[in-house]
Amino acid sequence: MDTLTVDLGDRSYPIYIASNLLSQLSSLMPVLSGRQLMVVTNTTISPLYLDNVVQLLSVHCDVDTVILPDGEQFKNLDTLNRIFTALLEKTHSRKTTLVALGGGVVGDMTGFAAASYQRGVDFIQIPTTLLSQVDSSVGGKTGVNHVLGKNMIGAFHQPTSVFIDIDTLATLPDRELSAGIAEVVKYGLIRDADFFVWLEKNMDALVSRDNQALTYAVRRSCEIKAEVVAKDEKEGGLRAILNLGHTFGHAIETAKGYGVWLHGEAVSTGMLMAVDLSVRLGWLDSSVALRTKDLLIRAGLPVSSPDDMTPEQFLSLMAVDKKVVDKQLRLVLLTALGEAVTTSDFSHKALGETLLAI
Ligand code: NAD
Ligand code: GLY
Repeated sequence: MDTLTVDLGDRSYPIYIASNLLSQLSSLMPVLSGRQLMVVTNTTISPLYLDNVVQLLSVHCDVDTVILPDGEQFKNLDTLNRIFTALLEKTHSRKTTLVALGGGVVGDMTGFAAASYQRGVDFIQIPTTLLSQVDSSVGGKTGVNHVLGKNMIGAFHQPTSVFIDIDTLATLPDRELSAGIAEVVKYGLIRDADFFVWLEKNMDALVSRDNQALTYAVRRSCEIKAEVVAKDEKEGGLRAILNLGHTFGHAIETAKGYGVWLHGEAVSTGMLMAVDLSVRLGWLDSSVALRTKDLLIRAGLPVSSPDDMTPEQFLSLMAVDKKVVDKQLRLVLLTALGEAVTTSDFSHKALGETLLAI
């Protein structure tokens, strides 16, 4: 088993990564003994993993469950309220612990419920998609969507531990696996050129779910995320680089309707836009754009924006992004493979060209 630490002083927490990790849950959670737990999951994951998880956790604790509808379109305040209702109906106290069993949607909503229930309770992440294993379960960003903008309502609230069982990826649909690979490619682009090269060599192994390749990709991604979060937990600066391609991607997700393009698919096209713009600005060698496009295609990801989205639509949706400060659009761009900056200092003419080209 690999154990990483997200180093945040007295709120530091472990990330456990292994195959067949779920079977070790009860031995890894002795501190929960005697406490109330609420496992939050959805209608797709519940028949696959919920009984097993509840049985293992029940060794130490009283375990209740709440099963949410599945889908990004349900990541909203109405669904969040179901978690609060379940907690109140089962008289969960301030000492309760919430357990997110699922992908990023379940994780983000459970985390936000934990941030706000009785002004804040503990929560644990058990991510079951590649995207949530390499990104959303680590770092404490929690929240829900608003019809006017993605992830616009939320809080920073760190989990107390993250349990990543690589074997849960066996049941993940191919399209969801590819969506997770988009965030893995992101780490190579923003922080680690060697990892990007490793991905070029191992993309076929990842797509065919080779266990060793998946384990390494998850571990390296979590290491990079943990390092960035430890340096800048609340996104005062550095952490924004984790949003490479996301400003473009969120515009696609909002325009198409939540859940039509998967988050990782929108990020894939968005990353290519950010890379293309970096090349147009003269900051990045054009070979990086070609290599990025090739890698994303090999991962089964989209590399062009929806046919029916205009540059004007992009610009108006990008104007409500969380990285807009004082009405100035800020973007994550690359200055080299493995090196990213967040800046508003770019030519808007070049941005317009990128929006037409990709
Ligand atoms: P998701 O949670 O919607 O899961 C994708 C699909 O896979 C769902 O249908 C789900 O039920 C199903 N599923 C999950 N695990 C499965 C398994 N093991 N076997 C079979 N099916 C399984 O999507 P996601 O890609 O995990 O997460 C996307 C969300 O994460 C977005 O809302 C995005 O905004 C958010 N996100 C948050 C952060 C953060 O830092 N908090 C970072 C990145 C993304
Ligand atoms: N997914 C971006 C972040 O966690 O900051």
